[in-house]
Amino acid sequence: MNYSKIIAGTMTWGVWGKKLSKTEMIKRINHCIENGITAFDHADIYGDYTTEAEFGSAFAESGANRSSLQFISKCGIQYLGKTRHYNKVKHYDYSKAYIIASAEASLKHLKTEYLDLLLLHRPSPLMEAEVIAEAFSQLKKQGKVRAFGVSNFTPSQMDLIRKETEVSANQIEFSLTQHTAIHDGTLDYLTTNNIQAMAWSPLGTVFKEDTEQIRRIRKQLDELTHKYNATEDQLLLAWLLKHPAAIHPVIGTTNLDRMTNAAKTVAIDLDLEDWFLILVSCQGHKVP
Ligand SMILES: NC(=O)c1ccc[n+]([C@@H]2O[C@H](COP(=O)([O-])OP(=O)(O)OC[C@H]3O[C@@H](n4cnc5c(N)ncnc54)[C@H](OP(=O)(O)O)[C@@H]3O)[C@@H](O)[C@H]2O)c1
Repeated sequence: MNYSKIIAGTMTWGVWGKKLSKTEMIKRINHCIENGITAFDHADIYGDYTTEAEFGSAFAESGANRSSLQFISKCGIQYLGKTRHYNKVKHYDYSKAYIIASAEASLKHLKTEYLDLLLLHRPSPLMEAEVIAEAFSQLKKQGKVRAFGVSNFTPSQMDLIRKETEVSANQIEFSLTQHTAIHDGTLDYLTTNNIQAMAWSPLGTVFKEDTEQIRRIRKQLDELTHKYNATEDQLLLAWLLKHPAAIHPVIGTTNLDRMTNAAKTVAIDLDLEDWFLILVSCQGHKVP
């Protein structure tokens, strides 16, 4: 399955963030497509189970051609919110019935016949590979989901699921400021097993915090902006894209200019030493 290299994350398009109107969503859908961002990342829970439906209604009026887009969604988190007041505690449900019901609800909300990719949102201590495989198999046979994957899974958790069914992607938290996946074997595992790596929160905490570490990073980025004729957020994405795991960043911005900038980062190839300069600015010390 081919997803655009940059994926548009929709977590904050609705009530969990910018509360975009239908017109504003249509504008962003078309803007993404015009800039080559054709993959849209969803989850059943976004906006307390409301954002998929808002996006779906905007998509239906956008005039966009479904077959040239990729819709990703996630299932499994039973969220405590207004719409799930009957839950006693936030938990994960990977029963066959729940996975299927969640995927079918995503299809209805997104106004689409199929999902390109369905992810298990978070690993559950109680998940059973055989049960998950049965749900995936039924959804695939019925043409409702084309490919399956996981999110926030470790290599051993992926092994557990892969013993029963194919896992084609893992969406993990990965950025300059959260780069443990480089060291703990997660990205090596994905490359070795030909599993698509996707990175959520690809800008990390750079625009969210003002610590000594962040000031160090921003000073380094600032020194490189002129050389690459790029903004700080573009350099952060370019740093991530340089990794050989062919990571697809899931960007969270709702800002049209930043979406355009993000799409352009695929053309930025950081020099080897610049990649390490940026890493060192984050770590605060040179590599061993
Ligand atoms: N699988 C999972 O468990 C999981 C978990 C979390 C998220 N996700 C997915 O990942 C997507 C992205 O997550 P994220 O929103 O944390 O990603 P992000 O792209 O790292 O962060 C986006 C945030 O940074 C701001 N921003 C971007 N560029 C900026 C700049 N130059 N200066 C200042 N602020 C800037 C954006 O504000 P503006 O909108 O104003 O630009 C937005 O609030 C989500 O939408 C969701 O689809 C998945």
